[in-house]
Amino acid sequence: MLSEVTAVRYVTPLREGGSLPGLVETDDGRGAYGTYVTKFSGAGQGRKTLVAEVICGQLARRLGLRVPRLVGVGLDPVLGLAEPDQEVQQLLKSSGGLNLGMEYLSGALGFDPLAFVVDPAEAGRVVWFDALINNVDRSWRNPNLLVWHGDIWLIDHGASMIWHHNWPTAQTASARAYDASDHALAPYGPDVAAAAAELAPLVTKELLAEVTADVPDAWLDGEPGFDGPDAVRQAYADALLPRAESIHERITLEGGGK
Ligand SMILES: Nc1ncnc2c1ncn2[C@@H]1O[C@H](COP(=O)(O)OP(=O)(O)O)[C@@H](O)[C@H]1O
Ligand SMILES: [Mg+2]
Repeated sequence: MLSEVTAVRYVTPLREGGSLPGLVETDDGRGAYGTYVTKFSGAGQGRKTLVAEVICGQLARRLGLRVPRLVGVGLDPVLGLAEPDQEVQQLLKSSGGLNLGMEYLSGALGFDPLAFVVDPAEAGRVVWFDALINNVDRSWRNPNLLVWHGDIWLIDHGASMIWHHNWPTAQTASARAYDASDHALAPYGPDVAAAAAELAPLVTKELLAEVTADVPDAWLDGEPGFDGPDAVRQAYADALLPRAESIHERITLEGGGK
């Protein structure tokens, strides 16, 4: 279970990709206020984006990669009434219940390959992890990496695990290769073999059970072809477990360039 906080104020949209995340002030019910980058369940991409954010974000954190802390953000759609912007108003109105919050890294900068050097060991861990989850959204054009206090942080895992859009083909889709030639960290000589040796053994059934348990039932309920949320959780784990063992043999790095 993710810890949960309640939205008290919509601050501002963070327009970048298409998912229309927004900065939201929250209350944890014990008097502590926080600020979270929030992705809404009513956004166009749908709730699978949120499921991917939770599974991949929690998995990355458990593997020791830096991802801002994730929480569930409870939203009363009434909050939308105060919004002057029609699009935001509509988004909030259609996102009652739980949404996904990511701790806001105040002062973080977007990753600039000309201004930041990543060592091959760290680049290897990130590339290997992205191969595991089949993340297509970490290219040099759109790195989805932040630099905060001198370290890189991973954000935006909503476009990974493409196989969850077509479950009957998930086993074959998840066995496919990963093309990292466009990856933002491809130019840093990523040591993928070392990353695989270190991280693959950590991706166990138990770990996958833990990270998939963090997805709220409400985002898994009613998935066609499944007998409830736990069966969907299992399908995510079944796709990732074998991929962790061998994906390092199927990563293409050639052709990368700053
Ligand atoms: N945790 C965070 N802390 C600070 N800024 C963030 C954080 N998460 C996202 N952002 C900013 O918001 C932008 C959009 O977030 P992102 O998760 O990439 O959503 P999308 O690309 O789907 O719109 C990012 O490029 C970044 O500038
Ligand atoms: Mg993004």
